[in-house]
Amino acid sequence: MSDIPKFDVLPEHIGIIMDGNGRWAKQRGLKRTEGHKEGAKVFKRICEYAADIGIKYLTFYAFSTENWKRPPEEVSVIMDIFRDYLGEAEERQEENRQKQLRMRFIGIREGIPEDIQILMDQLEKNSDDKNKTVVNLAINYGGRSELVNAVKKISKKVASGELSAEDIDEEMISSNLYTANQPDPDIIIRPSGEYRLSNFMIWQAAYSEFWYSDVLWPDFTEEHLISVLRDYEKRNRRFGGI
Ligand code: FPP
Repeated sequence: MSDIPKFDVLPEHIGIIMDGNGRWAKQRGLKRTEGHKEGAKVFKRICEYAADIGIKYLTFYAFSTENWKRPPEEVSVIMDIFRDYLGEAEERQEENRQKQLRMRFIGIREGIPEDIQILMDQLEKNSDDKNKTVVNLAINYGGRSELVNAVKKISKKVASGELSAEDIDEEMISSNLYTANQPDPDIIIRPSGEYRLSNFMIWQAAYSEFWYSDVLWPDFTEEHLISVLRDYEKRNRRFGGI
């Protein structure tokens, strides 16, 4: 799509739960993993289109701390998809420079195959001067484990006397999450007809708007994103006020 529409207000940060890949594949008599491959293509397209529209922060939920429970073959194909994407991004550094996407990975690195961890580190490092859009890719991510991690970091400072328990406030918790220094998501998109957060950004989503749809992630298009943004223009966010 070449036309970039204009909006009266834009969310600064959009969270996206990429769901429905398995069902998309099943509907076509394909293996579930084919749905993930198609989902990865949609991730790349939507990421670039949202950046072109002017969205400053995007967070995509790609693999949760609970997704390791899936059959090993499926986990292995998802890891292959990450590996291919990261390797490709490394190879296309020049092209990526023009896109100005700053890539960040949120979640627990431990447990992810080591070669993928190395590619993640490289891509973060090679894109840290990019300034159009920050793209957080949540891999081995869980909102509860993110909070546990933040509580541990803060507790160590209290134990060492660097901080007093009385100093702990919401701002301190936010700044010890993976998304430190980023605005909370203004809107969270969940396709595939499910109506839950599934451990995605549970602290940051306190005041997020939600957008649900029956569309399966591999069928999510630029037009769906436009309709999310048109819908957002009409929302009246009160943050607990009137
Ligand atoms: C949920 O759909 C999807 C996943 C657990 C994997 C998502 C991964 C991708 C889209 C690939 C991302 C790739 C890159 C490069 C970021 P599901 O399998 O639970 O679908 P279902 O509910 O229909 O079974």
